[in-house]
Amino acid sequence: MRILAIESSCDDLSICLYEDKKVVSLAFSSQEEVHRKYGGVIPELASREHLKMLIPTLESCLEKANASLDSIEAIAATFAPGLIGSILVGLNFAKTLALCLNIPFIGIHHIEAHLLSPQIEHECLFPALGLVVSGGHTHLYKIKKLGEYELMSQTVDDAVGEAFDKVAKVIGLPYPGGPEIDKLAKEGNPNSFSFTFPRVKSNTLFTSFSGIKTACLQYWEQSTQNHTIQKDIAASFQSMVVRILMKTLKKASQLSDIKTLLLSGGVACNSELRNAVRSLEKEGWNCFLPSPKYCTDNAAMIANLAYQYLEQNKNSPINLDAHAQFPLETISY
Ligand code: KG4
Ligand code: ZN
Repeated sequence: MRILAIESSCDDLSICLYEDKKVVSLAFSSQEEVHRKYGGVIPELASREHLKMLIPTLESCLEKANASLDSIEAIAATFAPGLIGSILVGLNFAKTLALCLNIPFIGIHHIEAHLLSPQIEHECLFPALGLVVSGGHTHLYKIKKLGEYELMSQTVDDAVGEAFDKVAKVIGLPYPGGPEIDKLAKEGNPNSFSFTFPRVKSNTLFTSFSGIKTACLQYWEQSTQNHTIQKDIAASFQSMVVRILMKTLKKASQLSDIKTLLLSGGVACNSELRNAVRSLEKEGWNCFLPSPKYCTDNAAMIANLAYQYLEQNKNSPINLDAHAQFPLETISY
């Protein structure tokens, strides 16, 4: 089955042609340049840019594969969660194409797509723990099987990617801040600044990142604000974030008796986090990590999930709405 998948939930547009569990071609249109001067994503600009880039990105995706629209057998698009205007652009385009070509349509949940994105390159085993670390989410699920997820941990304030971006902005790094901190941290001393380990009283598995973000802000304001301090804050912040995530993972593993992990989301590109997760393998864990291009928002992860649901004859009504928020646990086809 040949699927065309569209991802447009935030500032990146991506279209994938996917066939029989393989990515045939993957096209991207990044908006980094558009939003960089504002230091973050401007929703209205994001949806307008998606509108402008949909057809060129589709053409580039089809051209790379030397494929025509007629060869597509099903269409998938992200329907939730994310920026409502951005989702609407991709979703309505996908539904229109499905109607015109008279082929099945399926709406995909962005977080479910991240969660199972390691499957694009790996045969993953279930049950597993699935940690999604992105600009909007820091969610840890127990994945029982396709479509069955139990939320074990989430952040009570900032998402981890959001904290990376905010700390980067405070210390004068460009947007998106995550990759910038990752780069700078390699030259800094992770023990230069100390933080109080966050504790969430209501649920010991829950995480919090706003305290360490605020501490970074205070350290920066009280400092001489030079390049060495930038590097040391980047290294200290990143190492603390990784410590928090690793502690959560280990606790969740003890509680669930699961030592299989699927790591996903933009922050899964982070080199220190990847190394820490890899080191779990020495303790008997089985860890599945996507390549960086499949960690950040991409349409291959939408296609991977769509393929599995369509194989089970599951699809969505053509009047499916876009949702800015939609709990993953309530998903059903
Ligand atoms: O999954 P994603 O592309 O979009 C969302 O669904 O949010 O994640 C974007 C986030 C941004 O916050 C970005 O700064 C972060 O992923 N990110 C990183 C790295 N690369 C991207 N954070 C830390 N280290 C990185 N290398
Ligand atoms: Zn995402």
